[in-house]
Amino acid sequence: MNHIVETVTFRSDVWVEGISVYVPHYFMPHREFALTTGVDPDKYTAGLGCKNMAITHPVEDAVTMAAEAGENLFTWWGFDPDDFGLLIVATETGVDWAKPVASYIHQFLSLPSDCRAFDLQHACFGATGALSMAAGWICSGMSGGRKALVIATDIAKYEVGSAGEATQGAGAVALAVGAGAETTKRVFSPNFSLNAVYSQNVMDFWRPGYSQNAVVNGKYSIECYLKALGACYTKYRMGGGRSYRQFSYLLFHLPFPKMAWKAVLKLEEIESEISGSALADGELADFYEKRVSPSTFGARQIGNIYCGSVYLAMASLLEVEKDCAAGEEIALFSYGSGCCAEFFTAVIGGRREIWEGKIGLLKALSRRERLDYKTYLEFRKVSDGLAHSESFSVGRIPAGQHIPPELRYMFLGYKRNRRMYITSIAERDYWSDKVRSGAQSQF
Ligand code: CAA
Repeated sequence: MNHIVETVTFRSDVWVEGISVYVPHYFMPHREFALTTGVDPDKYTAGLGCKNMAITHPVEDAVTMAAEAGENLFTWWGFDPDDFGLLIVATETGVDWAKPVASYIHQFLSLPSDCRAFDLQHACFGATGALSMAAGWICSGMSGGRKALVIATDIAKYEVGSAGEATQGAGAVALAVGAGAETTKRVFSPNFSLNAVYSQNVMDFWRPGYSQNAVVNGKYSIECYLKALGACYTKYRMGGGRSYRQFSYLLFHLPFPKMAWKAVLKLEEIESEISGSALADGELADFYEKRVSPSTFGARQIGNIYCGSVYLAMASLLEVEKDCAAGEEIALFSYGSGCCAEFFTAVIGGRREIWEGKIGLLKALSRRERLDYKTYLEFRKVSDGLAHSESFSVGRIPAGQHIPPELRYMFLGYKRNRRMYITSIAERDYWSDKVRSGAQSQF
């Protein structure tokens, strides 16, 4: 392991000063999903590396999940909304063609009126695009000393019965980005100057404007991912970057956990050509177990969360490897279909107590509830119904009997072309009581 001393001078002193996740309350085990749908469970567990798939309740969408993650960040890390001058929401499952998710979040999190707020879309690359833009905004001096809030939020959804269905998931990750943080506030520092980018127009995965579900050319999408990784890594190495073998940990975009193993094989193929020496099979397997596997924890439990995937890997590393990750130098690979990809590096802050108990991944997983396949299909049906105009029904909370107890934000349907949201537990309880007591109610 290469311990990086915190006195090393970096080109920029941009630090992520807080990271919190939101994980949906329900999950479906892949084993159960496979057995119910007549598939050999080993295909999902061994073949794709999956364990559980997060399932959103119909009242959840990209807005509610982003708000929950942002609220967690503010509550657990103690940030003040007035600290922020920029909000970028990265999503590929936004809720409107024009109005950004960021507008809702700006209001729900009480951000100041002079805070820029907008969405950034590029499939699963969005959050890395947003983080690098936030870093640039800070380094340029435009921030005026304020922080940026980057939130990745997505529901990964494919057709029922399609090959992609097993790789579904959902969740959000919120990052507070600042500069010059004291050592007691440093979580990780992304280095976008020691990096490599690759873009190409490919049709590997997309979501047509008329569809709730993504369309994917599965095998081809894996090829595109690996081609982009190969191109980035080669460019990064030719530009003077160090071997991937020298990083303490590697974090990947994880459409499914096994993708990380395919990615490591690709890196080794290129590295052995560049360095003229190859790792033996056992050495490579050992490298994977120690330096890659810990960050795949969240993806195994949750599935693909699209934009937030590589930052869920970061959350996993910090929570699962908390004793080892502090002070380490790591490499990250972010891939967005379509495609745009980036290989970059980061340093993790030296004190694990900074993030202990504030990320929320293990806590959220420990209070989840298992959902059966039948209810999962019902949820999808109710959710599709809510996507239609005038779907809002006065006093009704969709699939109300299953409402997760901790939800503060809920989408209730459309009323006069507007999305209707509940924005606190108190508001939800108020309306539930009114409906129960038969009183006239109007949301
Ligand atoms: N026991 C053990 N392993 C088994 C098995 C069994 N009974 N049956 C199959 N397997 C293995 C297969 O050998 C295969 O492993 P390898 O790839 O190592 O050969 C693996 O399980 C999957 O099996 P298939 O290839 O037959 O699976 P599939 O064709 O039905 O679907 C998929 C796989 C293409 C990934 C599909 O899930 C999919 O379309 N997913 C969505 C798209 C995706 O995730 N793309 C990834 C790159 S794009 C990206 O990263 C952006 C993004 O987020 C979407």
